[in-house]
Amino acid sequence: MNLLRSRFFQAVLVLVIAFVLLRFGIRPPAPWSVFTLYMAIVLLAVLVYISSDSDSWRAFKRPIWSTLVDPDKRVLRGALIVLIPLLLGYYAYTQAAARPQAPPELRAVHPAPPASIQFRGKEINIQGVENPLRKDPAGYKASVAAGYETYIRNCVYCHGDNLDGHGHFAYGFNPPPANFEDPGTIAMLQEAYLFWRIAKGGPGLPRESTPWNSVMPAWEDRLTEDQIWQVIMYVYDATGQKPRRWEQ
Ligand code: HEC
Repeated sequence: MNLLRSRFFQAVLVLVIAFVLLRFGIRPPAPWSVFTLYMAIVLLAVLVYISSDSDSWRAFKRPIWSTLVDPDKRVLRGALIVLIPLLLGYYAYTQAAARPQAPPELRAVHPAPPASIQFRGKEINIQGVENPLRKDPAGYKASVAAGYETYIRNCVYCHGDNLDGHGHFAYGFNPPPANFEDPGTIAMLQEAYLFWRIAKGGPGLPRESTPWNSVMPAWEDRLTEDQIWQVIMYVYDATGQKPRRWEQ
């Protein structure tokens, strides 16, 4: 039991016991910062206790000293000289090594529209198509009024009565309903693009827009072709935004 009487061994033993208790004895595990703080306090207490009288301090230092200078400890000394830098190096490596990480999930908010869609059994071109109702300037007011009616009946709950995406239900949804006042939405889209989005809704979004549980409904079964073109005219008229034109 020579070992147990050694001051140095006692100090190491106290530190090891404190380590095991703090690291594995506390459930749920204490945060790393708290753990290191407590370990530092234990280390300090051990050093204060050992150095409280000079005999015990000398007894504590003796094995360290002998390891450093005694000729018969040459092998141990050599091993430590190799081992300690290796351990430090390994620790530094684990801290600096790149960890494998899942790639960030990017989603396309405005994916490319399809060239054409099926709408109630009829093929409607999306690429290059203008709003047919705009061909009749005399009917503009009537179309916007009809679009307003469609909007209030169907869209206001999510897109809001100010068209800013703050409808009653908006707060429950992620992604939130589009804010048509925002220049990043309808102002940079063609009317045909809106037609596609309104007809096919969230379920019609292509793969690059997932993972994305858009609640935007598909309106193709509830609104007619004209009603969709009208509501599109209404959202541009009410926000004062201009639809993007197709490049010639
Ligand atoms: C249940 C809530 C809800 C209702 C009702 C709703 N929308 Fe949406 N809408 C959304 C959400 C959420 C988004 C954003 C995600 C997306 O683009 O799919 C969106 C997006 C859109 C977009 C795409 C804007 C862009 O910048 O890409 C348009 C256009 C649109 N809605 C029009 C309408 C119209 C018109 C109606 C009514 C006929 C309507 N929405 C009804 C939830 C709704």
